[in-house]
Amino acid sequence: MTGHGVDPARVRALKDREDARFAASHPTSVAMLERARRSMPNGVPMQWFASSYAHPPMFVLEGAGARFRDVDGNEYVDFNIADMSTFCGHAPEPVVRAIAERASRGTQFLLPDENAIWVAEELAHRWRLPAWQFTLSASQANVEVIRVARVATGRSVTLLFDGKYHGHFDQALVELRDGRLVPEELGLPPDVVRQTRVIPWNDPDALARALEPRDVAVVLAEPAMTNNHGLILPDPGFHEVLRRLTRETGTVLALDETHTLVCGPGGLCDRWGLEPDAVSLGKSIAGGVPIGAYGMTAELASVFAAEQPDDREEEPSVATGGTLFANALSMAAARAALSEVLTADAYTHTAALGARLAEGLEAAVVRAGLPWSVHRLFARSGTAFGPVPPRSAEEARACEDRLLTNLVRVYLANRGVWEAIPGAGPTVAVPATTEDVDRYVAAYGELLEELTASGAVAPATSGPGR
Ligand SMILES: Cc1ncc(COP(=O)(O)O)c(C=O)c1O
Repeated sequence: MTGHGVDPARVRALKDREDARFAASHPTSVAMLERARRSMPNGVPMQWFASSYAHPPMFVLEGAGARFRDVDGNEYVDFNIADMSTFCGHAPEPVVRAIAERASRGTQFLLPDENAIWVAEELAHRWRLPAWQFTLSASQANVEVIRVARVATGRSVTLLFDGKYHGHFDQALVELRDGRLVPEELGLPPDVVRQTRVIPWNDPDALARALEPRDVAVVLAEPAMTNNHGLILPDPGFHEVLRRLTRETGTVLALDETHTLVCGPGGLCDRWGLEPDAVSLGKSIAGGVPIGAYGMTAELASVFAAEQPDDREEEPSVATGGTLFANALSMAAARAALSEVLTADAYTHTAALGARLAEGLEAAVVRAGLPWSVHRLFARSGTAFGPVPPRSAEEARACEDRLLTNLVRVYLANRGVWEAIPGAGPTVAVPATTEDVDRYVAAYGELLEELTASGAVAPATSGPGR
C-alpha cells in the first residue's frame, strides 16, 4: 500500500488495462495524431493538449450542453469543462445566437460597441467594483492588474501564494523549490524571480512579514486556491487578515476569480463578502469565446486619467491593451452568457449538483474504506488522496499521486466521463443534469471497487462502453 491507501502494483495493472482499452476505442484520433505530428510538435497546436493528459490526445468533433463527442464517436459527460472555460456548456443556445448575429454584422472594429457598456455595467453590479477593462484571456487580465497596481502604488513587487496559478506570464511563473524562488518552466529569464515573492497560503505571519517592507504593489490571490490537487480553502478569518494587512500597508489586493466565478453570480467575492481592490475574470464569462476582464475601484482606475486624448503632447500611458481586446464578438458573447446563461437559477442548480457529486464521492470513498477526503465548493467537488483536505500547497503536494490521477482520468474516460484535470474540478456545467452527476459517481464507485478488491485485476470484458 502507498500512503494513499492503494496498492501501486494494482494501480499500474488497472492503468495498463485501461490505456489499452482507450487506444482501442480511439483509432481515428490515433491516426489524426500521426498526421498532425508532421506539422505540429507532438501533433498538437498547443502543447497543453499533449501534456495535460497521460493518454494520447483525442481529437474532438462537437459538443452540446454538458456533453461532447470525439472523432471516433465516443461521447463524454464533461466534468473538466475545458479547465473551467465552458461552465456555460457547449454551444449554449443564447451565446450561439448572439455570436451568429454579431458575426453577420462584423466582429472587430477597434472601437467599442454598446455591448461593452452593458457587460461592464453587469460585472460592476455583480462584483461591486465600478471600473472595468477587457482583454482576451485571464492571464492578460492579471498582467494588466499588476501593471495598474504598480502605477497606483509606485512599487513593483507582486506577492503570490505557494500553489497558485494565475496564467502563463513571466512574473507568475515562479515557484518555491526547497525554500528558494525559481523560474517554474523553461524559457523564463533567471532574474524573473526578482519581481515576485511567494509565501504559504493560510499563514498570516508570513503574510505580515512579506508586506512589512512596503515594497509590494499587489497581492494576487484566488479566493480559494483551485489549481492544486484538491482544493485549498481559506482558514476562517484568513481573508479578513489579508484585507486588513493589505490596507494597512498600502498594498493593492487583487482577487482572481477566473475559476471561482462558477461559485455564484458574483463569484466568491459575493458569496463570502470579500472586498478586493481589483478582480480578474476570464474563461467562462463569454460562454467559451475568448475574453478576459478586470474590475477595479475608482481609485485604482484613476491611473488611466492621463489617457484622455487631446491635441497636446501625449502623456505616458499605462501599459495595457491589445488590438483584438474588447472586440465586438467577445462582448456579444459575454452579454448573452451573463444575461441568459449565468443566471441566479443556474448557480442554484449547479451548486445543488455539486453537492450531489460530493455526496456520491464521499459515499464511494467510505464504501471503499479509503483514507481520502472530499471537498465541495458550490459547482465544484472532488477528492484528495489524503485523510483531510489540504490547507496549504505543501499538504496538497503530499496528496499527489500521478499514476493514480492518470488512472482515474482514463478509467472514467473509458466509461463516458471526461474527468477534470486537477485544477478544474470535477465541476458541473450549467446544462448538467442529475443523470450526468450520477454517471460520474457510478464510474468512480466502480473504479474504487476495482482498486480495493483482492485478487488479480479482471481483464477488460467489454469494448468502449458508451
Ligand atoms: C485562477 C486562474 N487565473 C488565470 C488563469 C489563466 O487563464 P487563461 O489561460 O485563460 O489566460 C487560470 C487558468 O487556469 C486560472 O486558473
